[in-house]
Amino acid sequence: MIKFVSAASMINKAKTGRYAVAHFNINNLEWTKSILEIAQETNSPVIIGVSEGAMKYMGGYKTVHDMVFALLNDLKITVSVALHLDHGQSVESCKKALDAGFSSVMFDGSHLEFNENVKGTKEVVAYAKKTHASVEAEAGTIGGEEDGVIGNGEIASEEDCMALADLGIDFLAAGIGNIHGKYPAKWDGLKFDVLEKLSVASKKPMVLHGGSGIPKDQVLKAISLGISKINVNTELQEVFADAIEKYVTSGKLKEDKGFDPRKIFKPGMEAIKTKAKELLTEFGSLGKA
Ligand code: 13P
Repeated sequence: MIKFVSAASMINKAKTGRYAVAHFNINNLEWTKSILEIAQETNSPVIIGVSEGAMKYMGGYKTVHDMVFALLNDLKITVSVALHLDHGQSVESCKKALDAGFSSVMFDGSHLEFNENVKGTKEVVAYAKKTHASVEAEAGTIGGEEDGVIGNGEIASEEDCMALADLGIDFLAAGIGNIHGKYPAKWDGLKFDVLEKLSVASKKPMVLHGGSGIPKDQVLKAISLGISKINVNTELQEVFADAIEKYVTSGKLKEDKGFDPRKIFKPGMEAIKTKAKELLTEFGSLGKA
């Protein structure tokens, strides 16, 4: 039986090898299948990220775990795959994910008072130890909107990063000017001086949220300064939607059996695979499974 692996080992390897592991958020079975297939085809380790909103959409923790797990085995995926709760908003959510068999969780206490963030992170780290799952924490806040929670994009401090790193977490997300969703035309870019300081202070592999649409030169510089996991959601949603729009507006829906959902989703799935391959190449994780 093929099993999920904790994300810690693949991310630590990436930090040493100076590349980043891709974390792709999933939204349904088609998404999951496309990502697992491209990871296998390119021999890349991959993290399947699931937000609480996506979890609810797909039915719940057990449904999501069992679906991804079954695909892993049915498709005979042999590259390293971690199943990760993205932005767990409470200790309870993280425990539910771990109980369902997730191999990695993020406790996002960035919306809490810092001492509450520390308390929750500590509790999640202790719980995750039981199943050897990895834990991501967040210092500062990521800008933009994620599952209805609006973050102001607060830059993380060295003290907060060190305090969270000391709790036994595996990797750390920090606000460094990054934003979820589309970057505004006037975006200042990533704060590399901050990233460098936080990476040195925490001594942990760093996570870049809001990975969609960051110019390649900035991505590569961020990797060189300690980013070892990059989260991408919006960019895959955009290419999926564009491909399906093209299919629908081309009139194919009305031709022959063009209304078959398998035909409708096919171009969307191909678009996800093409974009994901482009990103795996950019992040340098190709062939590193
Ligand atoms: P994007 O949607 O901006 O790619 O961000 C994804 C993310 O950071 C998930 O945690």
